[in-house]
Amino acid sequence: MPDILIRNLNNTLLDSKDNSKTVLNIIHENQIDWMFACGAKGRCTTCKIIVINGLENISPVNELEQKFKDVGRLGDNERLACQSKISGDIEIEVARENKFPHVVYSY
Ligand code: FES
Repeated sequence: MPDILIRNLNNTLLDSKDNSKTVLNIIHENQIDWMFACGAKGRCTTCKIIVINGLENISPVNELEQKFKDVGRLGDNERLACQSKISGDIEIEVARENKFPHVVYSY
């Protein structure tokens, strides 16, 4: 099954056992703290992932994400973890503004 590599979280590697789950679900199932201020409803951008590799392996941008892209709150290589599902490996980073103070990031 596809892997999620979180580069700036000490190269944490997650194996997604279920393609029907969102990236946010997979991250949380692995007991990783990841912001999701709106409760995974696609109404904030705190769950944002910066995609380094594998953008093509993520489900198409949906209406909720497109709204943020239209106003410049999601870049070309950024997606909402709560709206994204994967069909292949991806490499991502936590955005600087969404880091938790109690979590140790590698950069
Ligand atoms: S948790 Fe708010 S948009 Fe994903």
